[in-house]
Order: sequence, then C-alpha cells, then structure tokens
Amino acid sequence: MTHRILAIPGDGIGAEVMPHVLRVLDALGMDLSVESGTLGGVAIEEHGTPLPTSTLDAAREADAVLLGAVGGPKWDNLPMDRRPEKGLLGLRAALDAFANLRPAMLFESLANASSLRPELVAGLDILIVRELTGGIYFGEPRGIESANGRRRGYNTDVYADGEIERIARVAFDLAGKRGGRLTSVDKANVLEVTQLWRDVVTEVHADFPNIELNHVYVDNAAMQLVRAPKQFDVIVTGNLFGDILSDAAAMLTGSLGMLPSASLNAKGQGIYEPVHGSAPDIAGRNVANPLATILSAAMMLRYSLGEETAADRIEAAVNAVLERGIRTADIMPADSDADVCQVGTDEMADAVIAAL
Ligand code: IPM
Ligand code: MG
Repeated sequence: MTHRILAIPGDGIGAEVMPHVLRVLDALGMDLSVESGTLGGVAIEEHGTPLPTSTLDAAREADAVLLGAVGGPKWDNLPMDRRPEKGLLGLRAALDAFANLRPAMLFESLANASSLRPELVAGLDILIVRELTGGIYFGEPRGIESANGRRRGYNTDVYADGEIERIARVAFDLAGKRGGRLTSVDKANVLEVTQLWRDVVTEVHADFPNIELNHVYVDNAAMQLVRAPKQFDVIVTGNLFGDILSDAAAMLTGSLGMLPSASLNAKGQGIYEPVHGSAPDIAGRNVANPLATILSAAMMLRYSLGEETAADRIEAAVNAVLERGIRTADIMPADSDADVCQVGTDEMADAVIAAL
C-alpha cells in the first residue's frame, strides 16, 4: 500500500532541511507518495495566509504530515492571527492532533554535548506528552483591548474534562509500554483549570492500576528536570507547560537540534516536526542539524504508517553516524580534543543515507 505524505518545508532551516529528509526517506526504497504543501511565512508570501486551504485539504487527505518549521523576523510584526505560527496552530487544530509526543532521549555518544554533567544524563529517556489543541493557546476570550488610553491583554486557560481525559489515556497507555511511571504536571495550587486537570488524571488512573502516577507542580518539575532528569519516565501536561518543559528537556540531550516530535489525532494521522523552530539566524548557511527532522520522519514511519522496521533503520543509522563522531555545529563537544568531525547539514544527511 502506498503511504501518502504531505511534506511541508516551511520557513528558515525548515525549508533547508526538508529536501535532505526526503532524500533519507527515498533511500529507504519504500512505496511513498510525497506531496508538498506551504505553511507559515512562505504561505503568507505566496497565498496571503499562513494556512492556505490547499494545504489544509492535502493534510486531511494524507496519512501523515512531515513539517520543517515556520516563522521568522520578517513576519513577527504582523497581527497575531496572521503570523506564521498561527498557521501551525491552525493545522494542529484542524487535524485535531491533540497528542504531542516529545521524546527526550540521549544518544550515548552525545553525553558530553549536554549542558548537564554526563552522569546526570547518561541513559536519559523521557517522553513528554503535551496536550496540543487546547489550554491557553486556544482559550477564549483572548485579546488586547484599549480603553481610556490604557491597554489590557488577556488569555484564557481552559480545559474540558474530556480533553484532559483523552490526553491522560494516551499518556497512561504509553507509560505502560515503557517504564510504567507517569508524572502529571500542573499548577493545581494556584490555577483551577489545573486542579481539574489533576482530578481528571487521577480518575483516569483507576483504569491503569499498574501505572505508578505522581503529580508535580510545574515549577518543581522544571527544577527537577535540570537537577535529576532521570527520575522521569513519561510526563503528561497541558499545552503551555508542555511547550516550556519540552525545550528544557530537549537541551538535556545536547541540542534542540536532536529532538523529534509526533502530534497524533484519534485516527492515527499525525504531524511530525522537530521540536526546534525555524532558526532564521542560521538558515541558508548549511549549518543546521537535520537530525531532529530525520528522527521525526522515523516517528512518522512508526506511529502513522506502521513501518516499524524502516523507523528502526533510520534511528540505527543516526546512532551509527553519531558513534562515528560526525557532528553538526550544535552538537560539537566543548572539549576540543574529542575525536569528532564537524560537518554541514548536507554532509550529515549524506552520512545518515550512507549508514542506511
Ligand atoms: C513548539 C513551538 C510552537 C508552540 C510555536 C512555533 C507556535 O514552540 O512546537 O513547541 O508554541 O507550540
Ligand atoms: Mg516550543
């Protein structure tokens, strides 16, 4: 059966990396039909909107969406609802891709690229499950209003019990396939919406008696992540806390340039994108690390296309390349006599393809 993929390069290093990732997929020799779509800044330029209907329609038809990154300084001063990021949020919402899986796994050969001491991160393997289509990102009312020459900005953090329940089920389920431990992160000491979060997660726990559940406030979770990250197995949290904690967790693994993600809906369709952004400051210079997007393609093969073996092959190839000391700039060790060699975006992708 042909798998239908919508590839959306997007902006900045997203557009730079995507062709290399498609080369990697091509090298697998599988039956893939790849269509291309526009989103973000490039879509604003070409279609006057960050999320063209053509992209939306193609995404609904596809088995999976593979996405580079969106955004850039050129569009930062547009009104909020016309910015590139709005296109990404609109795509997530339109596909109902509520379950965002962000694994933070340390490749052994990168232990000395982490900002923490190697012994604190060796063997690190955390999965952050972030709710992606609700919470303060989407809550109404929202806005900036003016009255009497003064301005007031406001957003609404809101979760319905059903939204919490479905993400909790995904997280308990995944915990069952891993270390059997789930940490739910909230701010239930201050925010009612997260008191409900805690209550619902606790109720769902009744259906997963074999999973060990604990609740941690978000400030403490941030602290524990940089103090002793290996205490975590699966973390489940809302949209905003998940955004913040996943960047912190990513950095533990050496670089934001390493971390893939999957955003799944109830039908198994997914959006696969790196956790990093469009990095306009380094775009077009052949220095971006393509591994996060390559690893996102592996997650796509595993979670939406049921191609476990191909996913394993990509991950093994990435591991082999790192073992051989091949590094993009972001994962170069501080210690200059380490036996490694710095390469650009294209050479990194070439190395992965050779290792396949
Ligand atoms: C992420 C990004 C996005 C988010 C931005 C680009 C809208 O930071 O995927 O983590 O906040 O969700
Ligand atoms: Mg983020």
